[in-house]
Amino acid sequence: MPAFSKSFSNIEMRAIVAYLRYMKSTSSATFASGDAIQGRVIFEGKGKCLNCHRVRDKGSRVGPNLTEIGSDRRTVDLQRSLLDPDAEVLPSNRFIRIVTQDGVTIIGRLLNQDTFTVQLIDSKERLQSFEKANLKEYGFIDKSLMPSYQDKLNNQELADVVSYLASLKGIDGQ
Ligand code: HEC
Repeated sequence: MPAFSKSFSNIEMRAIVAYLRYMKSTSSATFASGDAIQGRVIFEGKGKCLNCHRVRDKGSRVGPNLTEIGSDRRTVDLQRSLLDPDAEVLPSNRFIRIVTQDGVTIIGRLLNQDTFTVQLIDSKERLQSFEKANLKEYGFIDKSLMPSYQDKLNNQELADVVSYLASLKGIDGQ
């Protein structure tokens, strides 16, 4: 397992800059108040959020870990992530598509890259590393792999899920 710490902070830095810029460009709004307990039921049940996301020790690593999302994002951002995932994909959450020399296509969340190699987490949560020189193609995917919940959850359910997300403040939180 290679050490990511050095260049990882680069990616995180870019995420922070993008986020600060974005904070400046949006204003907050008010939404229906939700019930975090009900939100958790939806998150783990019909929302199927755990198929892609992890909260503490539960769920998948395909999408970003949401254990601390309530400390990192404002309500308006959380709401937007659910309704319009393509609107903003943070650099730290970007997905890449690569094609190997033998024509195999792999899509995964970018973990790290340098001049010669690229590392990603694939849809089966495997960490994979590739030499760029051995790839036929690689590039970012502009669209989010997160589905929109606009038509899948009603307003109350959305508000509940957002309340639940807002309550996620890390391992020591509740
Ligand atoms: C098919 C996989 C998938 C499912 C199912 C899914 N997500 Fe996502 N989600 C992603 C991916 C990939 C990203 C990162 C790209 C982006 O920001 O759009 C993401 C991003 C997010 C973000 C933004 C994270 C950030 O750092 O700002 C939130 C919040 C979120 N998802 C919540 C949810 C909730 C709540 C559900 C269930 C109702 C859900 N997701 C279901 C894949 C998924």
